Parts: sequence; C-alpha cells; structure tokens
Amino acid sequence: MDNRVREELIPEGIIEEVRLRTEIVEVISEYVSLQRKGKNFLGLCPFHTEKTPSFTVTPEKQMFYCFGCNTGGNVFSFLMKKENWTFIECVQRLAQRCGVVLPEKEMSPREREETRLRRRFEEINEWAANYYHNILLKSPEGEPGRRYFEKRGIDSETMNRFRLGYAPDRWDGLLDYLQTRGVQPQEVAEVGLALERGKSDKDKRQFYDRFRNRVLFSILDRRNQPIAFGGRVLDDSVPKYLNSPETAYFNKGHHLYGIHRAHQGIREEGYALLVEGYMDVIALQNAGYPNAVASLGTALTRDQANLIRRYTQRVVLLYDSDDAGIHAALRGGEILRDAGIQVEVLTLLGAKDPDEFLKNHGREQFHNLLQQAATFIEFKYRTLTHQQPPRSILEKAELVHKLAPDIIKVASPVEREGYERFLSLELGLTLEAVQREITSLGQKRHQKERFEEYSPQNPISSVKNRDNITNTIICKDVPAPPQPAVELGVYRAECTLLRLLVEDISLLNRIKETLGTSFWRDSAHQQIFDYLDQEGSVPTDSNEMIQSRLASLILEELDKSQTERLFADCTKNILAAQAEENVGDLQARMVALEKSGDMAGAMALLKEIGERLKRGK
Ligand code: CTP
Ligand code: MN
Repeated sequence: MDNRVREELIPEGIIEEVRLRTEIVEVISEYVSLQRKGKNFLGLCPFHTEKTPSFTVTPEKQMFYCFGCNTGGNVFSFLMKKENWTFIECVQRLAQRCGVVLPEKEMSPREREETRLRRRFEEINEWAANYYHNILLKSPEGEPGRRYFEKRGIDSETMNRFRLGYAPDRWDGLLDYLQTRGVQPQEVAEVGLALERGKSDKDKRQFYDRFRNRVLFSILDRRNQPIAFGGRVLDDSVPKYLNSPETAYFNKGHHLYGIHRAHQGIREEGYALLVEGYMDVIALQNAGYPNAVASLGTALTRDQANLIRRYTQRVVLLYDSDDAGIHAALRGGEILRDAGIQVEVLTLLGAKDPDEFLKNHGREQFHNLLQQAATFIEFKYRTLTHQQPPRSILEKAELVHKLAPDIIKVASPVEREGYERFLSLELGLTLEAVQREITSLGQKRHQKERFEEYSPQNPISSVKNRDNITNTIICKDVPAPPQPAVELGVYRAECTLLRLLVEDISLLNRIKETLGTSFWRDSAHQQIFDYLDQEGSVPTDSNEMIQSRLASLILEELDKSQTERLFADCTKNILAAQAEENVGDLQARMVALEKSGDMAGAMALLKEIGERLKRGK
C-alpha cells in the first residue's frame, strides 16, 4: 500500500475536521486510565514504565504530555506512537470513529470490497441478534428459552442488556427471517450462522440454521455490535456450547465476552475480573462488577491480554476451582503477566464458578472473598504445594527453582524481596539462601529470554533495539532501571557500553567521537564515565551506589569476540534514542504553531514527526 499517494487524496480540511471532532481524552482513555485533576487528566504513561502518574492530557489544548519521558503531542501523534499507525491510518480510524466520511476515492477497490463485506457481516449479525432476542422475549416459540433463563434467575432487563436470545427448534428459522431482509442463504452461511447440507447436488444448494433449540449469548464488541454468538443447550446434552465459527471478521482470540460494558467498567474499577463463562460475566456484572469479562471458551490469548492491558494494569483471575480451572489460571496468569499486567488469583471455595458462588453465598460474601485474592506467585506456590508440602531440602530447592522464573520477572525490587521473604518463611530457609538461589538461577538463564522479560510492555524503542543487543548483552539481573525516566533499552545499552569501556579503556576516544561526553542518561553511568575519562581507571572511593553498580558491571561475563558488534549496537541504540528526543522538540514546536493558529505548519510538522517515528523503527 502506498500511503503517500493516498495521503495526498485526503484534503487538509477533512483532516482538520477529524481533529476538531475528536476528543483526545476519549481516545487516550482507551489506552490509559485517566483521572481528572482540575483542568487536566492524569494517568500512567503508556510510553514508559512508571508507578506514579506523570502523563497528562489537556482537553483545552487537545494535547498530551508526559513529564516522565517528555513524550507529547496531539491525538494523531498519540496513535502513531501507541498503535504504530501511519498518519493516514490515524486519520482513517478517527474519521470512522467521529463519523467524518473520507472521500471515497482514497479506498482501493479491494478495500472498498472489504468494507462492504465487513458491513454486511455486521448487518447480518445485528439482524440475527434481534431475531433471536425477539423470539426470547415475545414469541410463543421462545417459551423454552424463557423458562431456561428464568430458572437461572435472569430477568428481562438482563436479557436486554446482554441481548440474550433463543434459537427456536427449527432448521430454517433464521434463514427464513433473513431472507425477508434480502439476505441470501449463502451469505448467512458465510457469516457462520447457517451450514450447508452435503454439497453433492450442485443445482440445489441447501442450508440450515446453525443454532437450534439453544439459548444464545450475543457476543458484543465495544460498540455493542454483535459479532458472534454462543449457544447453550437447555439440558445436559452435548455439546453444551456451540459458538459462531471464526471468520475473516470474527476471531475469538481477539475478543472478550462482556467488554461492551466492561470497557468502561474496568476503568471505573481500576482492574478487570477475568472469569471463564458467559453466565459468570452476567452474574458478576449484575452483582455490581461491571469490570467482569470472559475469554470466549478458549485459553486466554495474548491478544486478549493486550486488549485488557488497554484498560488496566491489574487483573483478578477468577477461574473455576476444578483442575482445569487451576491449570487455566496458571497459564492465563503467565500470559497476562507477560503483557505487563499485575495478576491476582481468587480461588472459589464452595462453588464451582462465580455464578454459582453468587447464587449460594450472595454479594457480600463475594466482596469479602475478593479481598483475599492471592498474588500470582503465591497462588502458584499454593498450587505446587497443595498436594504435598515440601519436606526435604531437595524438595524445597526444587520448589524455589520452579518459582524463580516468576520471581525474577518481578520488576519492583521491593515486591521481589516480598516474594523471597514469603518463600523463606514458608520453607523455613533463610532469606539469603532463597535470594542467592534465585539470583544464581537468574544468571544461568538464556540472555535473550531475560531481555524480553524486563520489557513486558515493550516501549517502542526497546522493541526496536531488541535484536541489536539481545543475544550477547551482558547486563544481568538488573531490576528496572533505577531512574524511571531512563528507558530500558537505553539503560541496557549504557550498561554494556560502560562494561566494554571498563574492559578496554582505549574505547574512550571512540565513544567520545561518536557520542560526546555527556550523553549518559543514567547519572551513575555518567559519574563512572567522567571518572574513567579523567583518571583513566575505575573509581575506588565513590559512594555505595556507584560502587555497587560498578561491581555488577565488572562481574558480568563479556563475550570478548563480540566487542565490535556490541560497541556498534550500543552506540546505534543510544543515537537512536537521541534522535527520538528530538522528536520531542519537534512536538514542542508543533504545539507553539498550533497555538499561533498556523495549522498548516503544525500539520506539516506532525507529518514529519510521524515519519521520524516510522523511520526510527
Ligand atoms: N465453552 C465453550 N464450549 C464448550 C464448553 C464451554 O465455548 N463446549 C465456553 C463457554 O464460553 C462457557 C465457558 O467456556 O461459558 C465455561 O464453560 P463452563 O464452565 O462449562 O460453562 P458455564 O459458562 O459455567 O455454563 P453453565 O453455567 O451454563 O453451565
Ligand atoms: Mn457456570
């Protein structure tokens, strides 16, 4: 796709209209949970890792700015950076969102066809949802569905809110109805709501409804648009659930049941409640947990974790208490953690799932139970020791080994020590022994694997730098960089560069030539460098922090055959980060232009920023 060609086809006036019609707070809220602070909104920066919010959005100016990493801009630059879209893609998406129609000619015939098919898919699903819903609510045929839901305590308001439905016990109920709307059976089959009978007779193709005699859960996306259905039998027959098949427009691993309400609910509550079943979501949302969602009958996928990550950094996993549920919680927890989410797990006792728990014990008890959610690591420990607490030294060591990978991944040193303490107490070992064991395991692990762990959210430039230094880099268990403003990729590049310099002081001049003398972003690195520069040797009488940093540097193994490559990668890395800093300057200038009313100038700069960000990749 040639973006430049199409870009010229969107008139400036339309771009401006999209900008005016878009509310930056709304857009950014989909990625960051924002809280109002006077005229501004405040949240955790999505472009660097931080624990206290320094990311601000100013509706008045329609701009954002992070005081931690100095990233800022308008709604377009936000999306370019966050979604990695081109400028034109941002305009397209935002236009769609705010109802601005882009000139038709900027779509290629293929795209136009694609859009038409997608609209048709949505239209057919919409009609189908209404059809099933109306039968459930009004038609005599819907009686079995009404009885079923009544038995499960679902009232008509809930039926409306979740667009529940009932598919009558007929082969062609939906097909007939859709035909009156001008939908061909073939199309119904294409969106997955009908199936074709044996295709032998080419002249007379025959289709039949996929869902028959089942209550239906409409799977609604954020816009409340039905995109699929889950159908449950009314009795104990199998299969218990039948779901819409995957198509070009529906991939179940990309969606979460309940998100039509929960996308707001999660932000309101500050965390997501992740459960297994449709009925669990309904029961929880009804019981005052609008933040409940479920994966769609699959093991949690990375895409689903990333979807949640748009709304929150915290998830409470609430899976069934059977073996399958525990297994799913272990696996799901790992996926969430790898997406940069803090995971807690709640084990339900006295009920098989949240729906049943609420029914048997009520909201208050559920509320109390929720306070007892365990951290993921604690949950894993309990699961591993559930059957048999470790007795022998060997068993204890094995347990530490099993949990070490999780503990090493904890970015906060305080939190990490908490877990180490927890283990030492549980196992009756000294804290030092547990720590030493975990640290030594950490050092043995493969470098590449290690690198990935420390950047779970992958700020853009650390992704970019990944391949440069992953395989040979040496920085060991550094926790998160001590200065949160220093981005991990840069921090690591600095570590490695300094390590090389300590090894071979003759690199000093080369470093100065390429990078100057005051480029270090980490102040300890700068101090060590200055000392080396002036004294020609490592400092021996500096403060404790510098000493410990030096020690950890010197203790790193260094692959001497890779010196040149490492040197090149690190300098490239640092230079790239510097180039990105200049984007910040550009952004500041753009703000000034916008203020002075020079929109064309600001637009031009914005494009430049977009291109820079792209090029940097
Ligand atoms: N599921 C599925 N296909 C199946 C079984 C389950 O897609 N054959 C999915 C559904 O999304 C279901 C979830 O997995 O909601 C959890 O399954 P289960 O615990 O068996 O069902 P519940 O939702 O608890 O259903 P109910 O309470 O109605 O028995
Ligand atoms: Mn259930």
